Amino acid sequence: MTQHRSRIAGIGTYLPTRIMTNADMSALVDTSDEWIRERTGIAQRHIAADDEYTSDLAVEASRAALAHAGLGTENIDLIIVATATPDLTFPATATIVQHKLGIHHGAAFDVHAVCSGFLYALAVADNFIKAGQATNALVIGAETFSRILDWTDRTTCVLFGDGAGAMVLSAGGEGEGLIKTHLRSDGQFCDLLYVDGGPSRTKTVGHLRMQGNQVFRHAVGKIAGSMEELAGMAGVPISDIDWFVPHQANQRILEGVAKKLAIPVEKVISTVGRHGNTSAASIPLAFDAAVQDGRIKRGDLVLMEALGGGFTWGAALARY
Ligand code: UT7
Repeated sequence: MTQHRSRIAGIGTYLPTRIMTNADMSALVDTSDEWIRERTGIAQRHIAADDEYTSDLAVEASRAALAHAGLGTENIDLIIVATATPDLTFPATATIVQHKLGIHHGAAFDVHAVCSGFLYALAVADNFIKAGQATNALVIGAETFSRILDWTDRTTCVLFGDGAGAMVLSAGGEGEGLIKTHLRSDGQFCDLLYVDGGPSRTKTVGHLRMQGNQVFRHAVGKIAGSMEELAGMAGVPISDIDWFVPHQANQRILEGVAKKLAIPVEKVISTVGRHGNTSAASIPLAFDAAVQDGRIKRGDLVLMEALGGGFTWGAALARY
């Protein structure tokens, strides 16, 4: 079988226009700008309009990624949406995105790994491409976490935001592209970060619940461990990395991981201050921000990581 490497042909993002600041938050719950900034680094987050769905955010990001890649919808033969906030229980949001993009060929499905969802989707698309089963894949992380927040719970509602990011992964990369992905999960931690509703158990959508300090306790070690394992498997020393694009949950976690692996702070891409935690959308949102401002350039070595509900976690290494 021919082995292809998947190249990041394009990237694009979308953020809803409405911004909620920490001051807006303190009008809702007993919190303060000072507490939120000090404990998380977050200053603001974007919130989708009532009639703006996860699929709409995904479509906007996809259009931007396609334009960046110089490809049309006719070139796409695989769509994977990573989301924990689908438009509906079914069909998959990816099929709704496919319909809204006017695509009637190929395959579309969702991947559900919460905050690690983008890495899971990237790994799946990469393997489809390497196996010769797809040529150009749209890999999307899209979320409307504002819909599943308990807006009376200050320990969670201040942390999350809405947004979407998409990458076009294409066959035919030689020196460039995804070098390796490394995925992990351990369901024994499923009670630390979950949504307390669902079609089978409660017949409701439910709200996000998190024991934040417990999640925090696991995050740095698990994330750093998977990055080290990945770097070892790829035979690439962490010191060779040009840019570190972490999942944007908390500035203290980003910095903790970077410190543990001796990654200089100048190499860390951080958008958590502007976006909050956008779950599966956060890695492509951060990646795109650094492409747009000229930090990440073609040929740079980029290391991504995430940890989320489940727990699921992992890392991905790419030559952009
Ligand atoms: O993306 C998926 C993965 N998720 C994460 O990685 C999130 C990981 N966790 C975190 O980022 C942090 O644990 C949080 C930001 C959620 C919380 O920070 P923390 O330093 O772990 O604080 P804590 O939960 O231990 O709470 C400390 C205090 C508590 O008060 P007492 O019991 O000490 O009196 C909380 O009630 O802070 C209080 N608190 C708040 N105060 C003001 C919790 N939330 C707030 C708030 N405003 N919004």
